[in-house]
Amino acid sequence: MTFTAFPEAELFLPESGEPALRWGLIGPGWIAGEFVDAVHEHTAQRFVAVASRSLDRATAFASEHGIESAFGSAAKMLARPDVDVVYIASPPGAHLAEGLAALAAGKHVIIEKPLASSAVEAQLLADAARAAGVLLMEAMWTRYLPQTSVIRALLADGALGEVRAVVADHGQAINPGPEHRLSRVDLGGGALLDLGIYPLQFDSMVLGAPTRVTAIGGLTDTGVDEYASLILNHDGHAQSTLTTSMVTRTPNSAVVAGSEAHLFVAPTFYNPTSLSVTGNDHFATPMHWDDPTSLRGFAALSWEATALARFVGEGSTESPLHTLDETVSILATIDEARTQLELQAIGSRAGQGIGSGA
Ligand SMILES: NC(=O)c1ccc[n+]([C@@H]2O[C@H](COP(=O)([O-])OP(=O)(O)OC[C@H]3O[C@@H](n4cnc5c(N)ncnc54)[C@H](OP(=O)(O)O)[C@@H]3O)[C@@H](O)[C@H]2O)c1
Repeated sequence: MTFTAFPEAELFLPESGEPALRWGLIGPGWIAGEFVDAVHEHTAQRFVAVASRSLDRATAFASEHGIESAFGSAAKMLARPDVDVVYIASPPGAHLAEGLAALAAGKHVIIEKPLASSAVEAQLLADAARAAGVLLMEAMWTRYLPQTSVIRALLADGALGEVRAVVADHGQAINPGPEHRLSRVDLGGGALLDLGIYPLQFDSMVLGAPTRVTAIGGLTDTGVDEYASLILNHDGHAQSTLTTSMVTRTPNSAVVAGSEAHLFVAPTFYNPTSLSVTGNDHFATPMHWDDPTSLRGFAALSWEATALARFVGEGSTESPLHTLDETVSILATIDEARTQLELQAIGSRAGQGIGSGA
């Protein structure tokens, strides 16, 4: 093993020179509540407005989360000059239209993962943001966690040797009913877009875009992917095994295996967690790293808010830690996997057995 101590985590600490932005919110549902509370408690950022499709819901959310203005439509909120950045937390099927509207209003925009329902939609958003000269980023909070800065530094230093494999999963026993957003094609449902995107973005950070995608899995009766296993080949040199499911809970860990050592990101790997690096020798002793901050669970959603403010303050129009091109590329891999699953389902229905997916 070529390293003896973990690098220092790089933290997006609040009040480190970033501007205090005025935030607006579209889609005041479950995760929006967690995000707003985390931002208010752990950052210098403030939500000043919330828009729902119902004024009553917006008003109730505003009062519960300490937000001064409530609107019964996104358009009314977007017309307000005192909103600098818009956080969109609606289901993925609404991200494109709402994102384009917010960008057209000249706002900086952060959209919950997945940025959009497909690579084509994500590209449209990226193009619109670039034309408007404002910041657009996907709210992929894992990218901004302290542990992720440590993983990036380990990889940059070659601490694991050459990376030859990634193994990661995200499965939850959600078992959504047919009307749930996760079951609906029109709302961008399915395990891959909602959960599988976490191991996929992890793999992309470590190894970049795959050169070959092979997927196998199953669809729900409503036609979205219920579970999937992906084998990604990277230039014939490294292979990734990624799984996702919305009907059962899987370990939710991640491994990066190198020629000299391997990194284990403990469950739940996309939340604040601990790391260990172990040499590839059979009797090597693991070295452990723990998140030195006190932010755990959804409180850690706050890191991405301070990161966004820092990027805006620096004049960046996208996240240097998760570019729009990379976001589009990850969605293209999901598109390809979903196409293979749909072809397999058609093949099964036609009595042809399971397609190769290759
Ligand atoms: N970062 C994370 O850890 C995390 C965790 C969970 C979810 N997420 C992501 O956050 C997003 C929202 O997930 P959620 O579970 O919070 O969703 P949710 O609670 O089901 O819905 C969010 C809100 O979007 C609005 N909405 C619902 N259907 C809509 C439609 N057809 N068109 C436009 N707006 C609609 C609703 O607000 P109004 O009706 O009041 O307008 C709803 O309250 C998803 O992209 C999901 O993947 C991220």
